[in-house]
Amino acid sequence: MTRVAILASGTGSNAGALIDYFSGDSEVNISVVGSNRKAAGVFDIAEKAGIKSFRFSKDEMDSGKLLKDLKSQKVDWVLLCGFLLKIPSDILMGYKDRILNIHPSLLPKHGGKGMYGMNVHKAVQDSGSNESGLTIHKVSENYDEGDIVFQASVDISHCTSAEEIASKVLALEHQYYPRIAEAMIKD
Ligand code: GRF
Repeated sequence: MTRVAILASGTGSNAGALIDYFSGDSEVNISVVGSNRKAAGVFDIAEKAGIKSFRFSKDEMDSGKLLKDLKSQKVDWVLLCGFLLKIPSDILMGYKDRILNIHPSLLPKHGGKGMYGMNVHKAVQDSGSNESGLTIHKVSENYDEGDIVFQASVDISHCTSAEEIASKVLALEHQYYPRIAEAMIKD
């Protein structure tokens, strides 16, 4: 059984989609959920699903404690879902090529520091583009710069607000993140 940890700072809807998708899977188990934010939606989602969760501080993440905890829980893969802190190098080395992130734009467009949440969708709207989408990528030392694993685009030519773009992209994220994560993990 491959043990997976989800790290999520925000609403947690992608975490929920992953948890639903893998429930009952005989090879992949979402074993633990972690967040740096007390109010993160993922805590409720994990509780309802009966999945262990824990909170950690940025200091604990940067000082090696998070890596130790992940290893002691025998975590094999880490999936980031709206996790806003930069992953430190010890975790990148400890989980080389086994940390994925999802980003709500077609990277390299609209990525990098400060490009999260509605900032991304507003930037897409301001760019006047007719399409947006999602990117699933490996996590590296710089925000949104790791190797791209998968992208899917969506027509936003009829969207009149950044919120509308956000909801179209989010639906696509829920559809693809579990399937692409599964393909990577089971590869
Ligand atoms: C998603 O749009 C994801 O692409 C980005 O952060 C957002 C998280 O949303 N990294 P949620 O917390 O999964 O609802």
